[in-house]
Amino acid sequence: MKTAKVVNSMNRVNPMKIAVASGDGIGKEVIPAALQVLDALSLNIEKVPVEIGYGKWKRTGKAITNDDLDLLRSCDCTFFGAITTPPDPDYKSVLVRIRQEFDLYANIRPVKGIGKGKNINFTIVRENTEGMYSGIEQVFPDAVHSTRVITHKGSERIAEYACLLAREDKDKEGDRRTHPKRLTIVHKANILKSCNLFREVCISVADKHKVPWEDMLVDATAHRMVLDPERFELIVTTNLFGDILSDMAAALIGGLGLCASANIGENYALFEPVHGSAPDIAGKGLANPIAAILSLAMMLKWYGKTKESDAVHDAVAHVTAAGITTPDLGGRCSTMKVADAVTAAIETR
Ligand code: NAD
Ligand code: IPM
Ligand code: MN
Repeated sequence: MKTAKVVNSMNRVNPMKIAVASGDGIGKEVIPAALQVLDALSLNIEKVPVEIGYGKWKRTGKAITNDDLDLLRSCDCTFFGAITTPPDPDYKSVLVRIRQEFDLYANIRPVKGIGKGKNINFTIVRENTEGMYSGIEQVFPDAVHSTRVITHKGSERIAEYACLLAREDKDKEGDRRTHPKRLTIVHKANILKSCNLFREVCISVADKHKVPWEDMLVDATAHRMVLDPERFELIVTTNLFGDILSDMAAALIGGLGLCASANIGENYALFEPVHGSAPDIAGKGLANPIAAILSLAMMLKWYGKTKESDAVHDAVAHVTAAGITTPDLGGRCSTMKVADAVTAAIETR
């Protein structure tokens, strides 16, 4: 089976071209903030703005068009903010559509404490195209059936990706690993046959790659993650479980304002903060831009720009340690003030 690379080195023609979809709510604040940080790296990157999301749906009746999808496709990858998804049966999630359209099957969500929870350091590898997000739903007058689809192929490729990450050398702080990380396979196989398939496929892939593994029921995982988050190194799980566990994990290190993610496929990727459009704080300059800035760092690493990616991580660590933070982390700075500080840290280093 062909396996996606952790670091993309597809030798695409320069310059790197990224679609920028800031979306709705705080997406419109954190993406410009992160782009300012990107500009400080003085890379030759072409940015293509693409308007998609709920705002566009209200304005035009369409949240995303085929032309928008073509624009995304014409770029190396997408840098994405957040999109409001109202609980309206006529509105289909744009993000889920993009993940499925581009077959972005691996959702990588690092959880690393910067200040709070500084000993917490694990990654959630979330299957991103099937499970409860299959889109197969039957609506009856008094019931709705949502079909959870777990396939051998879908489980195998996400397990392969997780094993690749388990074996990847730690690239920073001089602590190159001699052993692969321990993989925790998270499921609900005591109840769901679909999870039984997921569990068995993950185990056989881990054994094949000699990656040490354990398996854990998702409810027990939630409990242990709160009590002892430092014990986790790498988690592989199904779509909805990964969604829920990643927001919970974010709370352990200081909140969603810190958590970045990458949606990776064979030939395309989308980088976005884990958080949503946060209507409760939108338009006030309160949003923490770090999750978006670290998503940018994931994008640069994926593209092979490791040095620049490391520079962004270093600048973020420096700024956070200096107490230059938004209110979610106890600070008094605005979104742009934090971005200015990260930009300055990059420029002076
Ligand atoms: P949310 O992630 O937007 O917000 C949850 C809580 O975290 C809120 O209190 C918010 O203020 C806070 N928060 C989130 N990001 C923050 C940041 N950067 N800085 C400081 N505080 C932050 O989740 P929600 O409120 O349940 O969802 C709002 C909308 O976003 C919904 O329509 C939902 O469907 C959508 N959503 C979109 C995405 C996405 O596009 N990737 C992800 C999740 C939710
Ligand atoms: C996420 C979000 C999305 C999901 C929504 C907005 C479709 O919550 O990326 O975590 O459920 O995957
Ligand atoms: Mn989510």
